Amino acid sequence: MKTGVIIVAAGRGERAGGDLPKQYREIGGEAVLARTVEAFQSALPEASICVVINPADQDRFDALGLGAQSVFGGATRSASVKAGLDQLSALNPDTVLIHDAARPFVSDALIGRVVTALEAGPAALPALGMTDALFTARDHNMTGPLNRDEVFAAQTPQGFHFQQLLAAYDRLGPQAMHDDAGVAQMAGLTVRVVEGDPDNFKITRPEDFEKAETMLRQTDPIFVTGQGYDVHRLEPAESMWLCGVEIEAGLGLVGHSDADAGLHALTDAVLGAAGAGDIGQHFPPSDPRWSGASSDQFLLHALALLREAGGDLVHADITVICERPKIGPHRTAMRRRVAELLGLPEARVNIKATTTEKLGFTGRGEGLAAQAVATARMS
Ligand code: CTP
Ligand code: MG
Repeated sequence: MKTGVIIVAAGRGERAGGDLPKQYREIGGEAVLARTVEAFQSALPEASICVVINPADQDRFDALGLGAQSVFGGATRSASVKAGLDQLSALNPDTVLIHDAARPFVSDALIGRVVTALEAGPAALPALGMTDALFTARDHNMTGPLNRDEVFAAQTPQGFHFQQLLAAYDRLGPQAMHDDAGVAQMAGLTVRVVEGDPDNFKITRPEDFEKAETMLRQTDPIFVTGQGYDVHRLEPAESMWLCGVEIEAGLGLVGHSDADAGLHALTDAVLGAAGAGDIGQHFPPSDPRWSGASSDQFLLHALALLREAGGDLVHADITVICERPKIGPHRTAMRRRVAELLGLPEARVNIKATTTEKLGFTGRGEGLAAQAVATARMS
């Protein structure tokens, strides 16, 4: 089974305005056309992709370095599709999918639905049904109701058995049609309608670029994780600070600041997510300002750095490693305090503890260790 893909990109994008034709403008830092071509390269890695371009855009197309062949289009969309079909004839694929360059949000699932429908018939068209009541109107006057169940909005990619579409286009001649399913249907082919996707909209007007940017922010979240580790020596004392809570258990932690190993590990984890080095760089133990300092401020500083780096902390997980003190009785208070410091709901903070079966420095009670993982959503 050979599949060809034609991506029509020869239009001028008059309605979208701007300095460049819409398919060469960037959304989320990448050209619309590059996103569209990459969507097909990833969904159908074996397919031959032909991009139909405007002769005036040759340099712009080459600059994208897409690894797809190109051919010059014509004055109408139909003429551009025809040029793509002629180009693919040499390969004579079994099926062809035809897609608008201006629909970069085409999903694998949608492409899959069209491909599957072509196993059962010669033509397939993704479309959206209507939810509003529909009517016809002329000169601002309603002329009649329209049956919503029989009306659909066409999307692309539209799929066809290659030779049958070629024959349909030959029969069409120079006439221009809105889409290829229309050409196939006029030629008497059965066109199967499959479920479209509201995200697969066509960038058409200036405000569609804002919509596209907003969608990308929603659909392409990047999550990063940072991890941290800290150890402090244990000694007899009235109390210690651990995970932002004072624990009176006859033990203390030795350190320059308040030696809260839990918050130090978490601070390092947050700095890790922010790509901002480690706690020692920001709060050197040699600096007298941090003598006896509450570790709260280290953590809040790390959070501010994360925010500056475009990060939004979404989850924190701390593991305390020691034989004593027992963490269980303090777990709830620690969780509440850490959540409060991070500005997170308690459900997004976890505190856990383990012993090391009396092995090693933690097992002998010489020191207490803590590990932390911080997860952040980057914008
Ligand atoms: N197209 C094409 N050749 C043409 C006209 C359109 O290849 N002569 C392509 C466009 O590049 C686009 C797709 O067909 O990817 C759908 O067309 P449309 O959204 O109308 O794009 P434009 O024609 O570029 O935009 P406008 O009508 O606003 O000028
Ligand atoms: Mg157009």
